[in-house]
Formats: sequence, C-alpha cells, structure tokens
Amino acid sequence: MTSAILDVANIETHYGPIAALRGISLAVEEGKITTILGSNGAGKTTVLKTIAGALDPTRGQVRLQGQEIQGMAPDAIARKGIAHVPEGREIFPFLSVGQNLMMGAYARSDRSAMAADLDRVLSYFPRLVELRTRAAGTLSGGEQQMVAIGRALMSRPRVLLLDEPSLGLSPRLVKEVLDVIVRINRDDKLSVLLVEQNVAQALQIAHYGYVMELGRVVMADTCDQLRTKADIQEFYLGMRADDAGPNRRWKKKTWR
Ligand SMILES: Nc1ncnc2c1ncn2[C@@H]1O[C@H](COP(=O)(O)OP(=O)(O)O)[C@@H](O)[C@H]1O
Ligand SMILES: [Mg+2]
Repeated sequence: MTSAILDVANIETHYGPIAALRGISLAVEEGKITTILGSNGAGKTTVLKTIAGALDPTRGQVRLQGQEIQGMAPDAIARKGIAHVPEGREIFPFLSVGQNLMMGAYARSDRSAMAADLDRVLSYFPRLVELRTRAAGTLSGGEQQMVAIGRALMSRPRVLLLDEPSLGLSPRLVKEVLDVIVRINRDDKLSVLLVEQNVAQALQIAHYGYVMELGRVVMADTCDQLRTKADIQEFYLGMRADDAGPNRRWKKKTWR
C-alpha cells in the first residue's frame, strides 16, 4: 500500500522519433514536496508535460489517486486536480493580475469559496494586492511567477507541478517564491512536484528527490540522503573535496 497521490510508471515520451523519456517511474507522496533534479535536457520538463497531458506518453501509466490519466486532454487532467505551472510561466499578458488569478478558477462555480481562495492567494503574495488591476505583462519576472503560481492555486489542485519557478529571479525573489511553496505545502497540505535548478534550495525544501539523466531516473532518495551524496555535491551543489582527509574543505565550483 502506497500513500502516493501521483504515481508515474514506466513512462516513455517521444518528440517525433526521439525518445525524451525512456521509462520513467516516480511517485509523489500525498502532502509532500517531491523534487526532480537533473541537468539541462535530462527530461524534467517533459515529465511534467506528460503528467499534465500536454504530451502523450507512448508507454506507461500516470495515476492520480490510483486512476489512470495518461492520454487524457490537459483540461480534463486539470479538472481532476493537477495544476501545471510551466517553464516560462505563460500568464495572459494583456489581462490584469486579478483576471489572471481568476482564470485559474474558470472550471469552478463555488463563488464564495473562490473569493476566499483569492484572499488566501493574495495573502501568500501580498505584493500582488497593489498590482491587482495592472496588466500582468507589465510585471517583473518574479511577480509574473507569483501570478502563475497563484493562478494554479485558484484551481484548488490536489497536486501542483512547478517547472523551474525560480528561473531568472533575483536571489531574494527566489527565496520568496520557494518560501511560499513551503507554506502552501505546510499549511494547505498540498502535494508538490518541483523541478528546480537551484538544487541546494530544492533539496532543502523538498522531502524526496529524483535525479534524472538522459530520460531516465538515475537516483532516488530522501533529500536528506541526496544532500550527503558525493555526486550530488560535486555536480549540482558546486562543491568538491580538496582532499579526502578528515579536514577536507568544500570549495565552491561553478557549474554550467
Ligand atoms: N519540442 C521538442 N522537440 C524535440 N525535442 C525536444 C523538445 N522539447 C525537448 N526536447 C528534447 O527532449 C529532451 C528533454 O528535454 P526537457 O524535458 O526540456 O529537459 P529538461 O527540462 O530536463 O531540461 C532534450 O533532449 C530536448 O532537447
Ligand atoms: Mg526544463
């Protein structure tokens, strides 16, 4: 018996003849933050798109609370409770911030609950209160990311898929956005699948992590364990041992 709310089993996804996912299996435990790490081109975005229905897998299953959803249309999957915040945000630039947020609730009819949820989203992102009537396209990258996450929350998802939410943000905004993800997970018990290039921070906020390479999962463990692994430290955290002795120092190394 597993407590996974979302379960991906042996997924293969192609772009034309090219296999981007070569048999991926992973689980998102209910109420937990799960992260996917991996270098550029590993297939992280393809995993999220396949779960969200933007791409159809050629093999394998995606199960939400035990029900197979692979091959369903993206809006049907969204209605089942999977919200996808894609890479690059994809907000509606000419709509106001408030309209963008309400677009997330388009499939709902429970108006009073929607108003309460809007208040809740704005409490997560207080900066958006004063920007509510502004066209979303005029906002900074960080503010647009907040709108994109807020819009996803307005659909009251069971699982939130986040593709590099901190991409292109200043360090202060990175922290702000990741802090909100922690709060959403903790306070709303929302299950999160997070793809993040800030590996150190992802490992800090997530409970469980998968490392991908060339369309496969090459490592899976609790984030506490992943943090201690030498490959992860060297490749993703930019650290290397100066010597192997007991007084070894970790040195910062730039990667990418
Ligand atoms: N639209 C596309 N058409 C063809 N190949 C693609 C497309 N999108 C991604 N790929 C390829 O699929 C692989 C996985 O890409 P992606 O999922 O975007 O990786 P990641 O998000 O880990 O950087 C890469 O080799 C990439 O070049
Ligand atoms: Mg990507």
